[in-house]
Amino acid sequence: MARPAIVLIGFMGAGKTTGGRMFASALRCRMSDTDKRLQRRVGMSIPEYFAKHGEAAFREIEEEVAGELLERADGGVISLGGGTLQSERVRRALERHTVVLLHVGRATAWKRAKRSDRPLARDRAGFDRLYAERQAVYEQVADVILPEVDRQLLKPAVAVIAEA
Ligand code: S3P
Repeated sequence: MARPAIVLIGFMGAGKTTGGRMFASALRCRMSDTDKRLQRRVGMSIPEYFAKHGEAAFREIEEEVAGELLERADGGVISLGGGTLQSERVRRALERHTVVLLHVGRATAWKRAKRSDRPLARDRAGFDRLYAERQAVYEQVADVILPEVDRQLLKPAVAVIAEA
């Protein structure tokens, strides 16, 4: 039977990519990232895709990419885009994996996310609404919750979880 993967979830700016790399290096395994895969599949960046095709089309492809990855995973580390849990297929596929929620406060999330060109981090009110809406779902599916910590503290925390 396929082994569970470590799956990182959390809001934009939570540090899923950084945290994922740390887990992958502690466990000496590979890391996959749904945002990166999606961009490869559609041949353009996420902001470009949003601008051309809209959010609904983005969610369909995101569900496909994340669903396939989670359903086929045999060990390894997976970092999921912040909105992937909207999909029931994704939530179901998560059940056999170890899900680590990287918690991030709203202010830090905004500060980090607005620095990059994320299509859903352009207006503060919408960002805050999304943040509030999603917290319960993140917590519901998480097996482990890591509170917001800075990067120096994240590394030892990851090492402890990776060893458990
Ligand atoms: C999104 C999060 C982004 C990316 C897209 C939409 C979201 O990924 O998938 O911009 O809906 O929260 P990160 O969580 O890696 O920033």
